[in-house]
Amino acid sequence: DTFVIIMAGGVGSRFWPVSTEKKPKQFLDMLGTGKTLFQHTVDRFNEICYSRNIFVVTSAQYIDIALEQAPEIPESNILAEPVMRNTAPCIAYASYKIRKLNPKANIIVTPSDHLIEQKQLFQQTLQKGLNFVKDKDAILTIGIHPHRPETGFGYIQMKSADEEIGEVKAFKEKPDIETAKSYLEGGEYLWNAGIFLFSAKTIIRAFETYMPAMARVFENGSDVFFTDKEQGFIDLVYPTFENISIDYSMLEKANNLYVQKAHFDWSDLGTWSALWEKSARSYTGDTVSSENAYLYETSNNIIHVPEDKVVVVQGLSEYIVVESNNVLLICSKGEEQRIKAFRHRASNSK
Ligand code: GDD
Ligand code: MG
Repeated sequence: DTFVIIMAGGVGSRFWPVSTEKKPKQFLDMLGTGKTLFQHTVDRFNEICYSRNIFVVTSAQYIDIALEQAPEIPESNILAEPVMRNTAPCIAYASYKIRKLNPKANIIVTPSDHLIEQKQLFQQTLQKGLNFVKDKDAILTIGIHPHRPETGFGYIQMKSADEEIGEVKAFKEKPDIETAKSYLEGGEYLWNAGIFLFSAKTIIRAFETYMPAMARVFENGSDVFFTDKEQGFIDLVYPTFENISIDYSMLEKANNLYVQKAHFDWSDLGTWSALWEKSARSYTGDTVSSENAYLYETSNNIIHVPEDKVVVVQGLSEYIVVESNNVLLICSKGEEQRIKAFRHRASNSK
C-alpha cells in the first residue's frame, strides 16, 4: 500500500506578515486560485492513494484548520504535535504509525506549501519513484534543475548526471552563497524538492541509525498508537526530541540516498521573490495585488496590500512592500532572508 505524509507544521516565517503563526502560508490561498497550498497538496495525491492513507502532521493549533480544509481525510489521520521539532520527528511519528498499520507500506513524504501545477506529470514521476523504492533499502529524493544560487535549499550531487534515477554522491543542506554559486556552475547538482519516497522499513531503519534515542521512544511507545492514550504519550515525549530537520539529521549522512529528476515545474513559494517569479508582472516588472495602487517610476517591486488600501509609490525598485494583519513591511528584495528575523523581533515587542 502507498501512504502519504503531509508535513504542515511550518510557520512560513519568510512570508511574514501575510503568513503568520495563527495562519501560516500552507493554509492560505497564496496565488488566488481559490484553494490553499495545503488543499492543492492533498489534491495532488488523489490518484496515488486513498484519502484514508494520507496522514497530516501539524501543530496542535492547526488541527482545526487542517480538518476544515481537507474534510476528506479521516480525523484520526491528522496528527497533532504539542511543540515544533522540525521535520525529522514529524516524519518519524507518522512513519511508525504507518508501519503499525502495514509493515510493508511505501511512503511518500511531502511539504504542504509548494506550487506544482502539472499534476499528471507529478503523479507519473511519483509512480516511477514508488516502483523504485519498493523492496529496496533506498531513500529516494526528488531533484529539481536549479536556476539560481538559492541558499534556502538542499543540494543533491548526482553520481551520474544522465540517469533518470541515480545514486547520490553527496547531499548538502542550505549552503552559503559562495558554495551555492559553485554548485550551480558545476552542473552536477540538483535542488532537493523536499519530497521523499521510501518503504516504512527503510525509513525506520534509518531513524534507528541516525536518531537512535528518538527511534527507541517510538518503538517502545508504539503500543499506544491508535488508542486513546496516544496523544498523552506524544505530548509527553515530543518535547524531549531533538529539534532537527530530516535533511541535516539523515540525508547529509545516509549512504542509500538516490535522486529522481523531476520533469514537472516546481516552486517552493518560500519567499516573496519566489512568489514574484510565479505571479503576473506588469511591463515594469512590478507585481501589485491591488487595483488601488498608483505607481510612478517604479520597477520590479512586490506590492501586496489589502484591496481597500490606497497606496502610492514613487521611485522605488527591487523592494517588497507588504501590508497585512496590521503590519507594514518595507524591505529590499536582496535582504528578504532577514524577514524571518524581522518577524521574530517585531512579534516579541508586542
Ligand atoms: N509537522 C511539521 N512539524 N511540519 C513542519 C515542521 C514541524 O516542526 N517544520 C516544518 N514543517 C513543514 C513545513 O510546513 C513545510 O511544508 C515542510 O515541513 C518543509 O519545512 P521548511 O521549514 O519549509 O523547510 P525548508 O524550506 O527550510 O527546507 C526544506 O525544503 C526545501 C525545498 O523547499 C529542505 O528539505 C530543503 O533541503 C529543500 O530544498
Ligand atoms: Mg520550505
